[in-house]
Amino acid sequence: MTMVKNIRAREILDSRGKPTVEVELTLDNEVMARAAVPSGASTGVHEALELRDNDRKRYNGAGVLKAVANVNNLIAKKAVGMPVGQQKEMDRMMLSLDGTKNKSKLGANAILAVSMAYARACALHANLPLYFYLGGSEANILPAPMMNVLNGGKHADNHVDFQEYMIMPGGAPNFREALRYGAEVFQCLKSLLKKKKLATGVGDEGGFAPVMKSNRQALEFLVQAIEQAGFKPRTQVAIALDPAASEFFKNHRYVLKADRKRLSNEQMAEHYAKLVRDFPIVSIEDGLAQDDWSGWKIMTDLLGDKIQLVGDDLFVTNIERLKIGIEKKVTNSILIKLNQIGTLTETIETIELAKKAGYSAVISHRSGETEDTFISDFAVAMGCGQIKTGSLSRSERIAKYNQLLRIEEELGTSAKFAGFTMVKNYGSAR
Ligand code: PGA
Ligand code: ZN
Repeated sequence: MTMVKNIRAREILDSRGKPTVEVELTLDNEVMARAAVPSGASTGVHEALELRDNDRKRYNGAGVLKAVANVNNLIAKKAVGMPVGQQKEMDRMMLSLDGTKNKSKLGANAILAVSMAYARACALHANLPLYFYLGGSEANILPAPMMNVLNGGKHADNHVDFQEYMIMPGGAPNFREALRYGAEVFQCLKSLLKKKKLATGVGDEGGFAPVMKSNRQALEFLVQAIEQAGFKPRTQVAIALDPAASEFFKNHRYVLKADRKRLSNEQMAEHYAKLVRDFPIVSIEDGLAQDDWSGWKIMTDLLGDKIQLVGDDLFVTNIERLKIGIEKKVTNSILIKLNQIGTLTETIETIELAKKAGYSAVISHRSGETEDTFISDFAVAMGCGQIKTGSLSRSERIAKYNQLLRIEEELGTSAKFAGFTMVKNYGSAR
């Protein structure tokens, strides 16, 4: 039987120039696979721990040599000799070796890098593309992309409160065309901003980061760009928001600096309801803060049958937190980030529970990314029909889109583009 022969981690840099973990895993037939983990900026407080060295002499404390050493010593000692095709066993082994609730001993960055590299090696060994290996030979759904073309919040320095203004070209006939729709809107947005003498430098996820007078103005720009590019707002290209509200939740109030407003959770939910009435918004992620369960209930009662409400910091890809959400009937969708929970197995279990409960799931990158395109294959494997992987610039974002192009081509006539079909409540009466 083919077994894991060698595991080697190293410290590499992510798209923000910060250290992250990369792992190379070799099987005894010399098949080698590599994986690198991403890193967030607006991280949820309930996420698994990303182990950093805190050694001020290196990378201002952000080094990951401890996580690297945990892979090379502790994890490798147990993983070397394990057979291929045993993802659950591999992940369970690391969970028990870690033994903590939030993976603080080994670090979620150490564990996830091995989990991903092992999956890739197993796929190579089985002579299957990763999306088939993880999703079975029926996997054929290409996700509709949510493209973050205007960046604010923690990903830019422009005093825009909402973190992400995304376009969603779900009206395209296939993924390749969806990518073109998105790229054309992005270019139109650039010329619109230029015309108004606004900055066209980009934020962490490759979207523009101009100073805006209000959060509404950002939405107006988006609609204008969609129309100027020749597309119909909502039916061809819709808007999705990720305000990342935990970041502007201060003393029980939602503080919108650009709008000069301090709102209660109820007022904030009503604010969104107004935006939904005025703009072609089909999805809002993290509209409220990560522990504001009562606010989420209000927001779900108000908008839960009109648009998609996605929990990111609220759920942190954690099955226990998702269970609470399902029980309390809050949101109707979950954002999925592998490094929030730290293993492939747990991530898949969370997605399965979401599907069972009738929640949609959106596979997502982080604001700190690498050239690794794992999530493109993963999105197709899971068949969730939605992916969030940044703007139409910066190669760490584009790499994911380009990989989806390859997958669509490979699948040929069996490829199915999800469009808006898997966006919760898309098409419901408004
Ligand atoms: P992060 O942002 O990767 O900085 O956490 C992405 C998001 O909030 O969805
Ligand atoms: Zn988010």
